[in-house]
Amino acid sequence: MENYEPEIVAFCCHYCAYTAADMAGSKRISYPSNVKIIRVPCTGKVDAIHIMKALEKGADGVYVAGCLEGDCHFKTGNTRAKHRVDRVKKILEDLGWEADRVAMVNMSAGMGERFAKTALEFTEKIKNLGPNPVKQTKSETQAAS
Ligand code: FES
Repeated sequence: MENYEPEIVAFCCHYCAYTAADMAGSKRISYPSNVKIIRVPCTGKVDAIHIMKALEKGADGVYVAGCLEGDCHFKTGNTRAKHRVDRVKKILEDLGWEADRVAMVNMSAGMGERFAKTALEFTEKIKNLGPNPVKQTKSETQAAS
């Protein structure tokens, strides 16, 4: 577990978090390479099934990064995304998984530092939780056969 490097998927809104990631890059602020960014036109396009699919495919943690509250270019995309993330958290709890494997964060395009800090903190949190239970089950099944 010491060398465990989590795989993290970040659904990032084109208008804010994705631009903030660019900003972090141009300011040479590093963040963990564990975070794989998927650019979306608005977090309102991220459905619960996308988050669940990422976890099913082996992501150890998933976060959705949208515009600041009240600043969504499509008005309510980020609030809808927050509700969906909350719904996924509830599903994970019902499955006996840690709800903290998913999160919703908000930032503006100029928040390169916040993007990097979020990536670092989320990676640390997921490291502490350990691998996705799907991976654990697969490795147990492979070891048994
Ligand atoms: Fe950024 Fe909707 S446009 S969250």
